[in-house]
Amino acid sequence: MVNPLNLTSSSFFFIFTLIILYVAYTFQKLEPNQTNMLFYIHDHFTGENTSAVTVAGINGPNFNIQHFGTVAIIDDPVTEGPAMDSTLLGSAQGVYVNSQLDSKAVYMVFSVIFTSGKYIGSTLEMQGYSLYTTKEREFGIVSGTGYFRFVKGYAVMETQSVDLATLRTTFKLNVTIKHY
Ligand SMILES: *[C@@H]1O[C@H](CO)[C@@H](O)[C@H](O)[C@H]1NC(C)=O
Ligand SMILES: *[C@@H]1O[C@H](CO)[C@@H](O)[C@H](O)[C@H]1NC(C)=O
Repeated sequence: MVNPLNLTSSSFFFIFTLIILYVAYTFQKLEPNQTNMLFYIHDHFTGENTSAVTVAGINGPNFNIQHFGTVAIIDDPVTEGPAMDSTLLGSAQGVYVNSQLDSKAVYMVFSVIFTSGKYIGSTLEMQGYSLYTTKEREFGIVSGTGYFRFVKGYAVMETQSVDLATLRTTFKLNVTIKHY
């Protein structure tokens, strides 16, 4: 009778090779995918379809976002193209605060919530500092949900158009993420 535990050296190496292949295959599957996407956020403090409001500031809730210490809450539409009437992808919901003593920067924390398209039901969680005197501002993408679980990445934000008198701004976001 053959003892199944009495392995010869060649069967040992066969099993050893199988284990190595299994480990290599598993690690290969864990390599993250990289996705790039572009979308636009419409941030309107006044006028038709107002989507951003200041809730606190040095002189009370109606203080201007262009001053240090002002807090704003947003529920901004997110679209595929720069025009307000281009395909709606979802919304950007969260908070931003004018966080720099000279009033030139804001600190933002918000979720991009996809309500249509390929990523419907998923979110990206964005966080960062934005010095609005620079053309390109970079944000961290700290996590996500649904399709974007375990995501990490960055977003480069540019001002697509702005009307300082009415505080209606469109931001372009170029997102690069790694996910599984
Ligand atoms: C406001 O929203 C409505 C409904 O989404 C839309 O039809 C209209 O064009 C928007 N107005 C502006 C100025 O974007
Ligand atoms: C978006 O970002 C990626 C990576 O940073 C870059 O290669 C690409 O050119 C950018 N696309 C646009 C349209 O800005």
